[in-house]
Amino acid sequence: MDLNLKIKFYNYPKLYEKNISKYIINNLKEGEFILGKEIFRLEDNLKKYLNVKDVITCGNATSALEIGLINLNLPKNSEIIVPSHTFIATINSIISAGHIPVVADINEYGLLDVKKVRNYINKKTKAIICVNLNGMICEMKEVLKICNEKKLYLIEESAQGFGAEYDNKKSGSFGIFAVFSFYPTKILGGYGDGGCLVTNDKKLGRKIRAFANHGRFKGSVISNGTNSRLDNVQAVILNKKLININNVIKHRRKSAEKYYQELKNNKNIYFPFKEREKKNKYKDVFQNFEVLVKKRDKLKYFLIKNNIETQIQWNRKPVNKINLKKIKVRNSFSGTRRYFDECLCLPIGHHINMTHIKKISLKINEFYKKN
Ligand SMILES: Cc1ncc(COP(=O)(O)O)c(C=O)c1O
Repeated sequence: MDLNLKIKFYNYPKLYEKNISKYIINNLKEGEFILGKEIFRLEDNLKKYLNVKDVITCGNATSALEIGLINLNLPKNSEIIVPSHTFIATINSIISAGHIPVVADINEYGLLDVKKVRNYINKKTKAIICVNLNGMICEMKEVLKICNEKKLYLIEESAQGFGAEYDNKKSGSFGIFAVFSFYPTKILGGYGDGGCLVTNDKKLGRKIRAFANHGRFKGSVISNGTNSRLDNVQAVILNKKLININNVIKHRRKSAEKYYQELKNNKNIYFPFKEREKKNKYKDVFQNFEVLVKKRDKLKYFLIKNNIETQIQWNRKPVNKINLKKIKVRNSFSGTRRYFDECLCLPIGHHINMTHIKKISLKINEFYKKN
């Protein structure tokens, strides 16, 4: 390995696994393109892995969330609480479903701050979307308590949370439904767009399955609908990748621990996952490895000069800073401000090994010796 080569944040060509090709070709030869057996196999496999009653594969997570929200039949313009640290996709789904995203502050882990969430609830509020960002599940027990008390739906936006656990239960079954993304860089990623909606509510599952396929059930139209189907070819890839998912997660956990061991004496860095570990209820999967660092922008610049790519999510803009007419921003965002002054994602994933992490950590320590 040439350590003078650039350490990339993402390495797309390395996502390609040659041994999957023959399965893709077989599928193509069979002419199984849409809603074929690989789709149903994937849905069954995911049901078992996530321990949920129904899985509906969709075109992507954004449309899965939109479809899920539409099929809850909430009054038009219902308010839906969503944390500031999320991709604009979460917001777009709420707006497309005819509702109003109400942006809430985040905690020191970058997740919905449950202690503040009551401040955002009023008569128009109908749901809370927990975004399980960076492979970390939110404080589910507390959110559920609030949802039950206020009669709100809890929805898991788990585009980045596949495989993450809370109290030994995987993301997917804490609320009325959850959505996952199979975007290529995700922990379970295909070679194109993909996503799914999972639920323990079988009636809702049936509605959504029809809705995602033009509102049809056994060929007859039974409701409104749209087209949000996963391609069979993606299902072939995802079925194969799912076999190895525990190793993928193991590698990410080992990588996070290695970063911690290399950097734990550096007081300029805060590791959210270490605080979470102490609480003994979270099992994070590290879709991203986001840490809080002093002198963040200067460090980022230093690392890029040393051929190490890092990332500040959403181009540095939490959702409360995005100027879209439909987004409601109330109350203060002190947690978000603090977090976004310091957050930085370090490289992690299939293309990053322990030697890379050692090199990255050495460079980080070198930076803080000089700065
Ligand atoms: C937090 C979050 N939400 C939603 C999405 C959207 O997922 P998809 O591209 O499958 O629609 C992503 C994907 O990048 C994401 O990271």
